[in-house]
Amino acid sequence: MPWVKQQPEVNIGVVGHVDHGKTTLVQALTGIWTARHSEELKRGMTIKLGYADGNIAFCEDMKPPEAYTTDEVCPTGSESRLLRRVSYVDAPGHEALMATMLSGAMLMDGAILVVAANEPCPQPQTVEHLAALNAIGIRNIVIVQNKIDVVTRERAFENYREIKNLVRGTVAEDAPIIPVSALHKTNIDVLLQSFQERIPTPHRDLSKPPLMFIVRSFDVNRPGTSFQDLVGGVIGGSLIQGVLKVGDEVAILPGVKTPVGGSKTAYKYEPITTRIEEIRFGELQVEEARPGGLAAIRTPLDPSLTKADSMVGNIVSHPDHQPPVARVLEIEYSVLERVVGGKEMTKLPPIQVKENIVLTIGTATRIGVVTGLGKSTMTVELKDPVAVWEGGRVALSRRVLGRWRLAGWGVVKS
Ligand code: GTP
Ligand code: MG
Ligand code: MG
Repeated sequence: MPWVKQQPEVNIGVVGHVDHGKTTLVQALTGIWTARHSEELKRGMTIKLGYADGNIAFCEDMKPPEAYTTDEVCPTGSESRLLRRVSYVDAPGHEALMATMLSGAMLMDGAILVVAANEPCPQPQTVEHLAALNAIGIRNIVIVQNKIDVVTRERAFENYREIKNLVRGTVAEDAPIIPVSALHKTNIDVLLQSFQERIPTPHRDLSKPPLMFIVRSFDVNRPGTSFQDLVGGVIGGSLIQGVLKVGDEVAILPGVKTPVGGSKTAYKYEPITTRIEEIRFGELQVEEARPGGLAAIRTPLDPSLTKADSMVGNIVSHPDHQPPVARVLEIEYSVLERVVGGKEMTKLPPIQVKENIVLTIGTATRIGVVTGLGKSTMTVELKDPVAVWEGGRVALSRRVLGRWRLAGWGVVKS
C-alpha cells in the first residue's frame, strides 16, 4: 500500500554555527535544498528560515538502525512503513541573522544542533544557538557531529570531548551525539532512529482555539497577470495549537501598518479579518491544518498586503478568540550570565531602565525600551504592538559590540 499523503506532524529545527552543514543535512534528510532566494544561492548561506518536509520510515524485514529510511522502498525491495512526516526548519547560522534563528526557534518542537568536526568547538553561534534552545525551552535535542569525512579518527574523538564539555549543565547535556557526513549521507539511518527516540511529536490540543504564527507571506501572481486571473494573498505559517479549516473566518493580529490621516510618520496597526480559501502543505492540498509543518493559506486579501513577507510576525486566530494585542508588556525574565560578543564570551552590565532591547515574540521581532525594572519582572514599551498569548515565551536581545545578542528570556505576564 503506498503511503497516505499527509501533513507533517512535528517541527524539527536545524541550528548551529555558519557553514557547519545545516542545509546540506536537511537535503540529506529530505532531498530538498532549502535555499531558494538568489541572494542565498549567490552567497552560499541561509538568510531566511528554510522549510523542507521529509519522511521517517521503517523496513520491517531489516534490523535497526539500518531499518530506518527516508524512502518508500527498502534496500531489500520491500515497501517501508511510514512512521512520521517531519518538517525541518533550517535556521541561518550567520551571526547577523540571530533574530531569524530566534523566530524559527519559537516553532521548533525539537532541534538538531549541527557541529562541524573540522573546526574547534565551540564556535560562537554554536554557543548562542544552544543558549537559544535553552532559553526557549526546547528540551528534545539531537547533536549532529558533521563533516566526519574530512577529519581523522583522533580529531573526531577530540571534537566529541569538546562537545561534551560544551553541553554539560545545559538542555543538551544528555543529547546523543551522532557522527554524520551530511555531504555523503553517512549514518542518516542512525540519525532517523535518534529522532524517533529523542524528538517525540508533542501532544496537540486540537480543541483549543487556533493560533498560527506567520513565517512568510506572498503574492503568488506572476507579473503581468490580468485582473480577472489574480488570486488573493497567501500566508505561510505554523499552528501552535488548534485547527484551521478551509472556509474558516480568521483574524490576523496586530494586522497591517496604516498611516493615520495623511501623516507621513504617524501610523497604527489595523487587524485584518479574512477567510481561508485553500490550505496547502507544499504540493499537498488539505481541508484542514493542524500543528506541524508550514501551511500555506490562500485568502481573498489584496495580494499587495501579503507580498514580500510583509505579514511576518502576525498571528492568525479565530475572530471570537483573538489574543490580546499590546504595546506595553510586563515580562517575567531571566538573564544569561554571559553572552556571545564577537569571538569571545562577554559579561554584560545589568539591564538598565531606558535601555533599548529587542524582543522575539512568536515570529515577531520588536524593538522596545525598558521602562520599569524589578528583580524578576520588567516593563517594556515596544515601538510597535504585538499579539501576545498566555504563557508565551519571549527571547530578549541586547546590543553587544554593535550587534543584537541573545541575552535572556522571559514569559509574558497576562
Ligand atoms: P549557513 O546556512 O550559512 O549557516 O550554512 P549551513 O550550516 O547551512 O551549511 P551548508 O549546508 O550550506 O554547508 C556549508 C559547506 O559545508 C558547503 O560547502 C557544504 O558542501 C559543506 N558540507 C556540509 N556538510 C558536509 C559534510 O558532511 N562533509 C563535508 N566535507 N562538507 C560538508
Ligand atoms: Mg553557508
Ligand atoms: Mg544553511
